[in-house]
Amino acid sequence: MDWGLKNRLSRIIKPDTGRTVMLAVDHGYFLGPTTGLEEPGKTVEPLLPYADTLMLTRGVLRNCVDPETDIPIVLRVSGGTSVLKDDLSNEGITVSIRDAIRLNVSGVALSIFVGAPNERETLQSMADLIDDAEEFGIPVLAVTAVGKDMVRDARYLALCCRIAAEMGAHFVKTYYCDDFERVVSTCPVPVVIAGGKKIPENDALQLAHNAVKRGAVGVDMGRNIFQSDCPVGMIKAVRAIVHENIPVEEGYKIYESEKANNVKTAVA
Ligand code: R5P
Repeated sequence: MDWGLKNRLSRIIKPDTGRTVMLAVDHGYFLGPTTGLEEPGKTVEPLLPYADTLMLTRGVLRNCVDPETDIPIVLRVSGGTSVLKDDLSNEGITVSIRDAIRLNVSGVALSIFVGAPNERETLQSMADLIDDAEEFGIPVLAVTAVGKDMVRDARYLALCCRIAAEMGAHFVKTYYCDDFERVVSTCPVPVVIAGGKKIPENDALQLAHNAVKRGAVGVDMGRNIFQSDCPVGMIKAVRAIVHENIPVEEGYKIYESEKANNVKTAVA
C-alpha cells in the first residue's frame, strides 16, 4: 500500500484506537429527502465534532458542508437508481476520480450487489474504481448487502465482504449478524458496520458494541444517529463505545444525559 493511500486511510480509521465512527448521510442518493436528512447541512453540523469521517454524496458535500470543515470525507461515487425501482442493483459510477480529488476526499465508496441482477456490473465497477483510485492513493470502501430482499446472515455477508476484499477494496461496510466473527475473520481488510433501519437507541448501541467486540473497526452509521430524538447524544454514545470500549449501559447514560440537557435548554 502506498504512502498516500495509507495516510488517507489513517485519517478515516484512527491509528490511536484502530477504530472509526463514520457518520453516514449519503441516503439521499436513492431515497431523496429521507427523514432526518431533509436539510442535511443542519443535521450534520452539530454532529461533526463527534464523527471521525463523513460519508456523503458530492451534491451534499458541495452545497451543505463548509469547505473549511476539518473532517475526512468518504465520498459515495455510485448511484443511478431510486427507491421507486424494484432493482436497486442497477448502479454505476456517478463521480469521476478527478472530481473526487478536486473535493479532497479521503476515500471513495460504492455499493456492490452480490446475488442481485446487476452483480457483475457492480463488481466490475468496483474493480474499475479501485484501479482509478489507487492511481491517486485513494482508498475504496465497498458497501455490501444493500437491498431489502437480501438475507443478511454470516454466510452471505462473509461472501460479499470477501469478494470485495479479494477484488481490492481497502475496507468494507456490511451489516452486523449472528456469527459476525466469521464475517470479520474471513475478510482480510477492515470491516465497518452500517446501522440499518432506526431501532431503539439502546438496541443501536448494543449493535455498535457487539460489532466492535466481534472485530469490526467501527461503524458507518446513519439513521440510528440522525433519526434519533437526540442525535448528538447518540453519536457521543456510539463514539465512546467504539473508541473507549465502554459498556452499553454507560453509553445509554451518555445519550440520556445529552437528551436531558437538551430538554433543560429548551425549557430555559
Ligand atoms: C446506504 O444506503 C448507505 O450507504 C448508508 O450510508 C448506509 O446504509 C449506512 O446508513 P444506516 O446506518 O442508516 O444504515
